[in-house]
Amino acid sequence: MVLPSPGENCQHIRSVRYIVLPVNEISRQQIETMKFVRFIMQNAALASAPKHIDHFSKFSPSPLSMKQFLDFGSINACEKTSFVFLRQELPVRLSNIMKEINLLPDQLLTTPSVQTVQGWYIQSLMDILEFLDTNPDDHRTLGNFADALVMIRNRHNDVVPTMAQGVLEYKETFSQDPVTNQNIQYFLDRFYMSRISIRMLINQHSLIFDGDTNPVHPNTIGCIDPHCTVAEVVQDAYQSAKMLCERYYLISPDLFLQEVNSNKKNQSVHMEYVPSHLYHMLFELFKNAMRATIEHNEGKTTLPPINVMVSLGGEDMSIKVGHRMSLHGWEECQC
Ligand SMILES: Nc1ncnc2c1ncn2[C@@H]1O[C@H](COP(=O)(O)OP(=O)(O)OP(=O)(O)O)[C@@H](O)[C@H]1O
Ligand SMILES: [Mg+2]
Repeated sequence: MVLPSPGENCQHIRSVRYIVLPVNEISRQQIETMKFVRFIMQNAALASAPKHIDHFSKFSPSPLSMKQFLDFGSINACEKTSFVFLRQELPVRLSNIMKEINLLPDQLLTTPSVQTVQGWYIQSLMDILEFLDTNPDDHRTLGNFADALVMIRNRHNDVVPTMAQGVLEYKETFSQDPVTNQNIQYFLDRFYMSRISIRMLINQHSLIFDGDTNPVHPNTIGCIDPHCTVAEVVQDAYQSAKMLCERYYLISPDLFLQEVNSNKKNQSVHMEYVPSHLYHMLFELFKNAMRATIEHNEGKTTLPPINVMVSLGGEDMSIKVGHRMSLHGWEECQC
C-alpha cells in the first residue's frame, strides 16, 4: 500500500548486472544492492507522505474519556481491536498536527530543528501506514506493530526540546511581532496537547499488551491509576520542586496540605487519573509558587508555606495551589 509496486518507482534496480565474483564480494555487493533498494523504497514512500497527510487529516481524532480507557483496558482488553483502532487513529492524529506544522511561518518551519521534528512525524506516519493492509489475525503483525510503536515513541522522545530549540533559533534570527508570537504559542499548546494524546494511546497499547504487570503499580490500567491518591502525588511533586528550589536558592517554603472529601468524610481523595500527568502539572505549579514566594520574601529567613487544598465535591475534584506574599500578610495568590 505504501511501498511502490516493483517497476513503478524502482526502475533503477533493473539495471543491476550480475557478474561472477568471489563469495565475499558477492555478499558485499548483495548487501549494497539491498541497501540501495531499501533507500529507493524509503524515499518513494516518504515522497507519498503529503498524499496520506491530506487523506488522514480529513478525519477528526476520536475523543476518548478516561472511563473509556479504563473500560477497554480492564474488561475488554483485546490487542486485535486496539491494533485496528490505532492503525487508523494514530495516522489521523499525526496528520492533523502535521497540517498545523505546515502552517507555521516559513522562517520557523525551515529551521533545522523544526525540519527534524517534521521528519520524525512523517517517518512515524509512514511506519504505521505499513500496517494498514496487514492481517490483524496474524500474531506476528501484532508483535511487529507493538515493536513499531516502541520505536515511534522513542523517536519522539526529544520532540519538546527540539521544537523549543527551533522556536529559539527563529526568535534569535528574526524580528518578532506580538500577533505572530501569539499564533506560535497557540500552535505550541495544540502541538503539545496532540503529542500527549498520541503518547497516551501508544503507552496504553504497549503497557496493556506487553504481557507483564507493572511490578511497582500492579493495579494500574496501562498508565492510568483507577485509585490515584492525590495527596501522594502532591507530596512527590512538592519534594521534587523543593530539591530544585534548594539547589538554586538554598532555601524552600514548607507545604501546608489540606484535604476535603465531601463524599467520604476524613478519607483521602482518590481519582481515576494518570499519576505522571498530575505530577508534571503540580511540579510546574510548585516551581512557580516557590520562586514567587522566595522573590517576594527576599532576605527573610522564614518563608510563608505553600498552601494546597485538595477538595472532592459531588461533581468534581479540584486542587488549589496557593502561596502567600508574606508570612503575616493575608494576600494570597492562587495557581
Ligand atoms: N505563582 C506565581 N506567582 C507569580 N508569578 C507567576 C506565578 N506563576 C507564574 N508566574 C509568572 O508567569 C511567568 C510564566 O510562568 P511559566 O511557568 O509559564 O514559565 P516560567 O516559570 O518562567 O518558566 P519554566 O516554567 O519553564 O521554568 C513566570 O515567569 C512568572 O513571571
Ligand atoms: Mg514555571
